[in-house]
Amino acid sequence: MEHSLVHLSSPDVSIIFEISDSTVGIRYWGSAIPHVETHNDLLAAVSNSIANSNFDIPLYPGVLREHSRGFLGHPAISGHRLGKSWSTHFSLTSIQQSASSLALTLIDSHVGLTLELTYVLNEFGILSINAALTNTGESSYNLEEFNYWLPLPDRASEVMDFTGRWSHERYPQRRAISYGVSTREIREGRSGHDYTIAQLALAGQPDFRSGEVWALSMAWSGNSQHFVEKLPSGETSIGAGELLEPGEAMIEAGARYVIPGVIANYSNEGFDGLSHNYYRWLRSRPHHPTNIRPRPVTLNVWEAVYFDHDEAKIKAIVDKAAEVGVERIVLDDGWFNLRRHDRAGLGDWVVDPAVWPQGLAPVIAYINEKGLEFGLWFEGEMVNPDSDLYRAHPEWILHEGDRTPPPWRHQQVLDLTHPGAFEHVFSQVDAVLSEYNIAYIKWDHNRVLVDAGHLGQAAVHNQTAAIYRLFDQLKERHPGLEIESCASGAARIDLGVIDHVDRFWTSDNNDALERQTIQRWTGLVIPPEMLGTHIGPTHSHQTGRTQEISFRAVNAFFGHAGIEWNITEASDEELRTLKHWIALYKKNRALLHSGKAIRVDHPDNAAFLYGVVAHDQSEAIFAYVQHRMNTSTFPAMATFPGLDPLRNYRVKVLHEAGAPKKMQVSDPLWVSNPDGIVQSGALLAQLGVRPPILSPENGILISIAAI
Ligand code: GLA
Repeated sequence: MEHSLVHLSSPDVSIIFEISDSTVGIRYWGSAIPHVETHNDLLAAVSNSIANSNFDIPLYPGVLREHSRGFLGHPAISGHRLGKSWSTHFSLTSIQQSASSLALTLIDSHVGLTLELTYVLNEFGILSINAALTNTGESSYNLEEFNYWLPLPDRASEVMDFTGRWSHERYPQRRAISYGVSTREIREGRSGHDYTIAQLALAGQPDFRSGEVWALSMAWSGNSQHFVEKLPSGETSIGAGELLEPGEAMIEAGARYVIPGVIANYSNEGFDGLSHNYYRWLRSRPHHPTNIRPRPVTLNVWEAVYFDHDEAKIKAIVDKAAEVGVERIVLDDGWFNLRRHDRAGLGDWVVDPAVWPQGLAPVIAYINEKGLEFGLWFEGEMVNPDSDLYRAHPEWILHEGDRTPPPWRHQQVLDLTHPGAFEHVFSQVDAVLSEYNIAYIKWDHNRVLVDAGHLGQAAVHNQTAAIYRLFDQLKERHPGLEIESCASGAARIDLGVIDHVDRFWTSDNNDALERQTIQRWTGLVIPPEMLGTHIGPTHSHQTGRTQEISFRAVNAFFGHAGIEWNITEASDEELRTLKHWIALYKKNRALLHSGKAIRVDHPDNAAFLYGVVAHDQSEAIFAYVQHRMNTSTFPAMATFPGLDPLRNYRVKVLHEAGAPKKMQVSDPLWVSNPDGIVQSGALLAQLGVRPPILSPENGILISIAAI
C-alpha cells in the first residue's frame, strides 16, 4: 500500500496528513514545520513496533477511527440500517489538494455511503473541517454520530474547558488527561450556558503569553459533544461532533446529510495566541461587524423598565441617553401583545396597543430625531401557551407524541421546522421590521429544548438549521440589519451562529466583578467588538452588590459598550462620567476593536490586568482591575507586554471612567503626574509601573502611546 504525505501550513501552524489508498490519517498538528523533505523518513519515524499480544500488522485506522481497521477507541462515525450495515470500512476515492486545503471523498460501497471530508487551514492558523454524508444505498441509513478527531502529542497533559449556568458563564475547569474518554455533552438544543465554546488541550502549564494549546470547537448551536481521549496504546486525541438523538439523522436513500463542522486552533503563545488567531480570522470576514461600521454605544432599557413599558418613561431615558452620547436605544421584552409579564404574549409579534396606542412610530421618531438608532427585542423561537398563536396552533411546538414538554419560563419552543410556524415568525418579524426604522434586533432564546420532536422524530438539528435560515432571510430582506444573539445571557454563543449574527449578549449578569471573569474567558474565542458589555445599575440586579460607576465603566469599556441602567436615576456627576466615558470609547473604539488582546499573567491573583495593543504597536489601552484586596501593602508591579521594546511610550491614567476609590494617602508619582511618564516598551514589559492601592472592585484605565 502506497502512503504519501500532504502538508498544509500557515505561517504558524502545520498539519500533516498521511494518505493511503484506503484512508487518511493525521500525523501532526502543531507549530509550523518549514518543510518536510523525505516522506518515508517521517513515516518511519512515527511507525510503531509490533507489540506482544497485539495485532500482527501495523494498523492504520486514520481519522475515521474505524473498528473494522482494528481501532478500539471512540469512533468517528457510527450508524446502521435497521441493525445491519453497522460497521463501516471506507476507501479513499478522490483527493483534491491545494496549498491550504485538502478535500477527500471516501466511499464504503458495501454499506452504501459516500463521505466528503474537507480540511481548510487559513493564513491565521485556523483549521476548518467539514463533512457531508450521502446515502448511496437503497434504504434509510440511521447516522448515530459523526465526530471530527485530531491528534494530540504525547506531551498534552491537561484538558481545559468552560462550564456555566445562568449569569455565571464560561468558568474554566482543568483536569489531567488520563486513560479513557473525557466528554462534555450539550443536550439542551442550544449551545447553552454550559457550552465550552472551545475545548482545549494543554501541554505543560501554558499561561496567557506562552505555552502550547490546542483547541477544538463545534461550529454549531445545537446539541454537541466534545472529547479528549487517551487510549491504552498511548494515543491521545481531541474530538467534537454534533450530538444526535436516536433516529435524528435518518438519511433517506439518495439523500445527503451536511454534518455540522468544527474549528480547530493551535497556539504556542499561550491563550492570547489562540485569541490572536481567532480574532484575526473572524475579523477577516467581510461581514464582520467592524468591517461594516464602528460599534455604536447601545442603551438597553431592560433593567430600567422591565415589562413596565411607558412612552414617557422611555422618552425620559432617551433624553438622558442622547445627552451623554448614546447612539442606539434598544426596547427590550414587553412591547408586544399582552406581554405585561413573562407568562403571556410570546408568539404574537404585534405591537400591544394597550401600552403603545399609536404603535412604536412616535417613540422611534423621537429617538431618530435625536440622532439615535432604534433596536427591538424578539424571541421568535418561543411561544407562551397564553398567546393567539398557541391557541390557533397548539401543534406548532416541538414535542413528542401527545406530551407537552415541561414548561420553562412559562413557554414552549415553536417548531420552526414546520413550514407554517417558520412562515408565521418570519412574516410577523418582517412586518415589524418593514413598518419601522429598526437597525438592530436582540433575538433571545430563553429556554432549553426538551423532547424536541417534529412528527415523531428528534428535531434539534433541523431547528438549528431553521434559525440560521431565518436570520439569513431577515438580513437579506433588511440589508444592514444587525442581530444580537441572546439566550438568557450567553446560552447561544458559538462559532456556528457567529456567521449569522453580529453581537452576543455576554451574560445577563451585569455585576462588573462577575463580568470580569465571564468576559475574560468568552473573549478567549469571541473578539470584544461582538460582546455586549454594558454599565449596569449601581446596585446589581443580579447579585445585589453595590459598585462605583468607575468600576462598571472600566469593566464595560473594551467590548461593544453600552448601558443597561435607568440613567434617569443617575446623579449629575454620574451623567458627566458617562458622557466622558462614551467620548473616550468613541475615540478609541477603532483600537479596542482591532488590536491584539493582551491578558497579563499578573503575579497577584487579587487583580486582573489586561488590554489591547495596536498591531503597529503605536498605542495601547490597559485596565488594571482590583477584584479583592492585595495581600501585600503595595500591589505587584503592572507590566505591559506586547509593545515595541525599542520605542518610548507615554503612560498615563485615563480619568474619563471616573474616580476609583482608593485605600492610600497619595498616588504613585506616575499616576499623580498629569502627563504620566515616558518609558521604553522594554522597561514597560520587564519592570512596569506600581499600581495605586485601589479599594476592591475598582479599576483604572491606562493609556500607553508611542511618542
Ligand atoms: C433574557 C435576556 C435579558 C432580557 C430578558 C427579557 O433573560 O437575557 O437580557 O432580554 O430575557 O425577558
